Amino acid sequence: MAVEHYEKVWHNGEFIPWSGATIHVASHVVSYASCLFEGIRCYETPQGPAIFRLKEHTDRLVNSCKIYRMDLDYTRAQLEQAMVELVRANGIKACYIRPVVFRGLGEVGVNPLKNPVEIYLLAWKWGRYLGENATKDGVEVCVSSWHRMAPNTLPALAKAASNYMNSQLIKMEALTNGYVEGIALDSTGHVSEGSGENIFLVHGGKIFTPSLASSVLPGITRDAVTTLAQELGYTVVEQTLAREMLYLADELFFTGTAAEITPIRSVDRITVGKGQPGPITRKLQERFMSIVQGHAEDKYGWLTFCNQPVAATR
Ligand SMILES: Cc1ncc(COP(=O)(O)O)c(C=O)c1O
Repeated sequence: MAVEHYEKVWHNGEFIPWSGATIHVASHVVSYASCLFEGIRCYETPQGPAIFRLKEHTDRLVNSCKIYRMDLDYTRAQLEQAMVELVRANGIKACYIRPVVFRGLGEVGVNPLKNPVEIYLLAWKWGRYLGENATKDGVEVCVSSWHRMAPNTLPALAKAASNYMNSQLIKMEALTNGYVEGIALDSTGHVSEGSGENIFLVHGGKIFTPSLASSVLPGITRDAVTTLAQELGYTVVEQTLAREMLYLADELFFTGTAAEITPIRSVDRITVGKGQPGPITRKLQERFMSIVQGHAEDKYGWLTFCNQPVAATR
């Protein structure tokens, strides 16, 4: 997929052209994957472009950096302001924002502590991540032969580039075998997450999702969906989930910034429920999309409207 990018890139406090956003191959990140990043959607709404859960994404980025002992020269408020300015400067209506923080050129050994920390904010267009009709019709997936990272190996709570080498193995295996996506188990064989999505299942009217102890990224869409499900009167349980629950679920769906809420029709060619998006999945999709697209009241304060002055929350 060729990227339909926006021209202005924010780099260490200044706007530079997309073509100038380059690094030297001897940069620390190239050999040692010393990169933390985010993925954020900005939605087109009747009140102009609105960034979804900017504060939570910024917090997760700062947390990821903290785990890897990376000090940022910018406060959370400055980073949030910069992302709003990125949208404004590029005249964007809707986009995907990709903040990247990494160790640049300097020392060439494993020790990252003397290498400069670079920050870039990029924006591009991103449609339906798992295919044009994925959110409408659902997708066919498999359980991956690759597990997610074992505890105390690579921290799953950090959105770190290194974790995505594991994600790439899951994704390539799934695509090679004719599936759209793979679901990885954790190191104990319990359900973890997709290569780039969290997972939820509906069983007996309750909604389940693996707990953070199952090597999952603390997804911001996961959190939003939990809030909306509770608002709609459903019980949401975070717990360890056996692999076979994927086959026995009445409904199954992925959540993520890129995937939004994507129903799953089958796992390992075993039909999930009736083999089509279920009623609870549909209700959550409708509620979620109506809020992010500005058609329903933003009662949780999830949207940052880029055409308005950004309220200093911190
Ligand atoms: C591995 C992984 N899990 C879960 C998610 C979902 O997280 P979020 O909803 O914050 O995008 C993502 C996407 O960022 C991901 O890459």
